[in-house]
Amino acid sequence: MKGFILAGGSGTRLHPLTKVTSKQLLPIYDKPMIYYPLNTLLKAGIKDILIIVAPERSGDFLNLLGSGKEFGARFTYEIQDKPSGIAEAFIIGKEFIKGDACTLILGDNIFTDDFSEVIANHKEGAKIFVKEVHDPERFGVIEMDDAGKVLSIEEKPANPKSNYAQTGLYIYDDKVVEYAEKIKPSARLEYEITDLNNLYLADGKLSAEIVKGEWIDAGTFESLHRASVIVREHELGMNAGSSNLEVKIKMPLETKEDVTV
Ligand code: DAU
Repeated sequence: MKGFILAGGSGTRLHPLTKVTSKQLLPIYDKPMIYYPLNTLLKAGIKDILIIVAPERSGDFLNLLGSGKEFGARFTYEIQDKPSGIAEAFIIGKEFIKGDACTLILGDNIFTDDFSEVIANHKEGAKIFVKEVHDPERFGVIEMDDAGKVLSIEEKPANPKSNYAQTGLYIYDDKVVEYAEKIKPSARLEYEITDLNNLYLADGKLSAEIVKGEWIDAGTFESLHRASVIVREHELGMNAGSSNLEVKIKMPLETKEDVTV
């Protein structure tokens, strides 16, 4: 299982914070944002990770994360010339995947759940992770039947069919490059992750799982702030009574002794 972290994009929604740095390098409490999605992959035992970055920030990511040795992992970097969509990762990373299965996580998504088991057990098709939100129009929106079967996925619809958002974590089988090569750019000229997932859905090969713990897309000022608050509560062991906040976020630098390349 290979890992992908998407840390490109222009981050214009967070100007002026992102005028001279990348969104995924902004601090979330006491660590750069990208440490959290990185930790989600490392925790799941994924050690071969492709980090996709924007050209103007590539040096900063390399300086921060290096070869991956420090984290007990191996990092490869690829430059995405312009933000042409999340699914473009599989075109850029075709050689890196080399016919393996892979897990992709967005560089601005923070999860408290441990996905080790579901990632280790993934055999065929695609798996997405969903969470109920109050502002579904900001996200890919999932319509499910009573049994949790996905009926449709729509990217940022004006009239969402449900309150379930598609989060920024996706597991794919070894067919992902084949599927990604079929996608055409959308009206906003992006290779949409939702289009990729819809291709799997059309073939009856997409399943969804509910995220039990916290999930934050830290792409707005509000959610960026909330992310720091939640991480701080976890790190300091506060809010122990809240079922949502029971999982402590363990950072890779604390666990590097446990993992070997
Ligand atoms: O956070 C979950 C949402 O992420 C999903 O619900 C949506 O279906 C999905 O399209 C995506 O929507 P966003 O509007 O949040 O995507 P955003 O443009 O903020 O990009 C997410 C991350 O991926 C961010 O860290 C930047 C990176 N990215 C994005 C694009 C479009 C790239 O590295 N390259 C890109 O071309």
